[in-house]
Order: sequence, then structure tokens, then C-alpha cells
Amino acid sequence: MEENMQLIRKTLKKYSQEHLLNGYDKLPETKQKQLLEQIEHTDFELINSLYNKTKEKAEISESEITPIEYWDKSKIKGEYKEFQETGEKAIRNGKLAVVTMAGGQGTRLGHIGPKGTYKLNLEIGEKYLFEILVDSLKEIKQKYGVTIPWYVMTSRENNNQTKEFLEKHNYFGYPSKDIKLFMQGELPLISTEGKILLDKDGCIKEASDGNGGIYEAINKNGILADMKQKGVEWISVGGIDNVLLNIADPILIGLTIKQNNLIGSKSVVKANAQEKVGVFGKVNGKTKVIEYTELPKEMAEKVDENGNLIFGDANILNHLFNIKVLEDLSNVKLPYHTALKKASYLDEENNYIEPVEPNAYKFETFIFDAFERYENMTVLRVKREEEFAPVKNATGVDSPETARALYKAFHGIN
Ligand code: UTP
Repeated sequence: MEENMQLIRKTLKKYSQEHLLNGYDKLPETKQKQLLEQIEHTDFELINSLYNKTKEKAEISESEITPIEYWDKSKIKGEYKEFQETGEKAIRNGKLAVVTMAGGQGTRLGHIGPKGTYKLNLEIGEKYLFEILVDSLKEIKQKYGVTIPWYVMTSRENNNQTKEFLEKHNYFGYPSKDIKLFMQGELPLISTEGKILLDKDGCIKEASDGNGGIYEAINKNGILADMKQKGVEWISVGGIDNVLLNIADPILIGLTIKQNNLIGSKSVVKANAQEKVGVFGKVNGKTKVIEYTELPKEMAEKVDENGNLIFGDANILNHLFNIKVLEDLSNVKLPYHTALKKASYLDEENNYIEPVEPNAYKFETFIFDAFERYENMTVLRVKREEEFAPVKNATGVDSPETARALYKAFHGIN
């Protein structure tokens, strides 16, 4: 034990993280054990290199980026029926599963608890974000006569709460045997000075490692095996916070199949050049989502002869994968992106600090960073007012207020 402790202290010293053991002696035994286990599992080399990268500005050079080819759903004419029939056949034959990514922290919204447990007041009554999603699943069931298997990705931080919430609400009437929760991976949060943060309980403050964690998590937790056993071939993947998410669109499925692609995704036209969304573009010939922070300003503002943004197709986190992709990518190492977030922590004097401004780096991989591994993918442009009403911020743009208005307009609620 003493030997082990010495080794741990040595590692912490090497990476200037000795503060992690400052309060160790005062912790209850269970927490001491947890903290030591966390330290042993932490990849300090990775954390160190990620911290060093926070000082670099990630921007893709202009010459590498070219526009994508996309299909505009509202302009598909002759082939529409063919795509629809192909997509509907796949759904009816039980080839589709839905994965909801709900492992995020929802820091901007500031709601206490998992984001899916946020209640949107719709005047006709209140609906939880999870409930809105289940409404869509039930609609598919009614329309196509199949119960789509539903998988919910959570994180260690919110898994129990999510599970309890869904149980308490009886899964909003969806059959529980067709629902599985699975947890994604985590990484420590660090201060802007590169110090790993401690949580209220004296243990390392960890957070989900981004929605790109889905590839590893889906394999590790037996979800992939479960899908295969059920004969699933296509997986619709979306976030929890878009109240107009269209999860089983036969047109996207049919088009992707007809194009012989393994990945399909939806876009909406950017609201304006400055909108803070990732856009689709081709980098070195491969389709990618380019984060707004990584797209040079001139490119973000570039328009064609009709005044339309050339890089104007925003990613709305509505993707379709063939199961082969999830098999291929289960061990993939995706690049990490850095986000500056608000995170409460224990300071060196053992005070619990609740910051008012973002204070911590969170490292995340993104689901779309795997797209470029494939030669081609399908992008289907859809109407924003029909499919995109995100709940991201507490007020203003992409807030409950804007999402409520869009939801009501789409569903004809006055
Ligand atoms: P966002 O990137 O908007 O993050 O997630 P967030 O956690 O909801 O909110 P902020 O940034 O802290 O305010 C988009 C979708 O991806 C999921 C989220 O739950 C949401 O549905 N997500 C995000 C994960 O499942 N895991 C993650 O690690 C991050």
C-alpha cells in the first residue's frame, strides 16, 4: 500500500498534480479508495498534451475546404417516392434502431439534472424533453407497426438520475423491454492553469468525453451486440435537446441506401453567417463537420452568385449510420476538442467554488469526426422550422423560449 502511494505521489509530482492528495487524509475510506482508483486510471500524459493544445488555435486553412454536395429534401421530385418506399421498407422490416445521446452536462441551460428531464411549458401542458422524444417513437410505432429499439447514452454523472426518471414516468408509455441505457466514457476537467479539478466529495471531477464517446460506449456495453441480435441495420442517432428531431425519416434512410452510402446526415441552412453551429464542408475531399470556431471568418461569410452561404449547411446532430460503421469505429481514436465550461470545484483551501464564468477545460470528441473516414456520405438538407428547435441556452437564441415557439408552430398549437 505504502509503495503504491509512493508511486502515485511520484506520478502526481511528475505532472504537477500533487494538489489532488491535499485533502486525502480527511476523506472517508470509501472516497480515499475512489480517489486513488481515479488517479490510477487517469492518463496524465493525455491530459497534459490536451492542456498544451488549449493554447493552439484550431483553424483549418482555406484552401483545404470545398463545398459539399447535398440533397434538398423539398426539391426532390421524381425519386422521392422511391426513397420513401426504400426507407419505409427498412423501418417496417425492423432494420432501424434509435440512439439518443443524453450524456452531456447541459451546462449552458443550467437545469439541475439530466437535460432530458427538463420540462418545456407548451400551454397545452408541459412536456419533458424525454417525453417529446418518446412521442416520436410512439408515432413511428403507430405508423409502421414496429417498436423501434431505443438506446439512451448517459454518463456516469447522470445515469442513475436518468434511469430513475424514466422508470418513475413509466418510460412515457414506451415498452421498457425495448429500451436500454448505456454509459459513455469520461475525462477529468481541468482548470485554465492545467490543474485537475476536485469535486465536492474530494474525488476527481470527471465529465463525459463528448458525443464521439458513442462509438466506444456502444461496443463496450454490449449495445452493438444487442442491435445485431435484433437484426438492426440502420441506426438513427440524435441528441436529446432538439424538440423537432425527426428520428426515423424514410427519405434520409432511402436516399442513403440508394446512394450506397453507410452514413447519412441532415442539415439546415444556417440562420446567418455568424450562427454558432458547425457546418458541412469537404476537407481534402472528405465530408466533415467544421466547427464554427475552426472555420475561417471569410469562408463563413462567403456567398454564391445568388447570395446564399457557400458553407451554409449546419449540422443538426441528426445522423444515420449503417451498423457496419459502428462495428468499424468501436476502437477508433478521435481527436479531442476543447470547450471552456462552468464547473464547480473544491479549491486548495477546501472551499467549494461555484463559478459564475466558464473556468474549466472539458475535452470532448465529436461523433462527426469519424465521417471523414468514409469516402462518401449523404447529406440531406431539411427545413429548419420542421426539424430543428434546440434547447441549449437558458435564454435568448436556442433557448426553451425559441424551442417552444417552434414546437408550437410545427404542431399547430395556438
Ligand atoms: P452539446 O454539445 O450541446 O452539450 O450536446 P450539452 O452537454 O447538452 O450542453 P452544454 O454544452 O454543456 O451546455 C449535444 C448533444 O450531445 C449529447 C448531449 O446530451 C446532447 O444531446 N452529449 C454531449 C453526449 O451525449 N455526451 C457528451 O459527452 C456531450
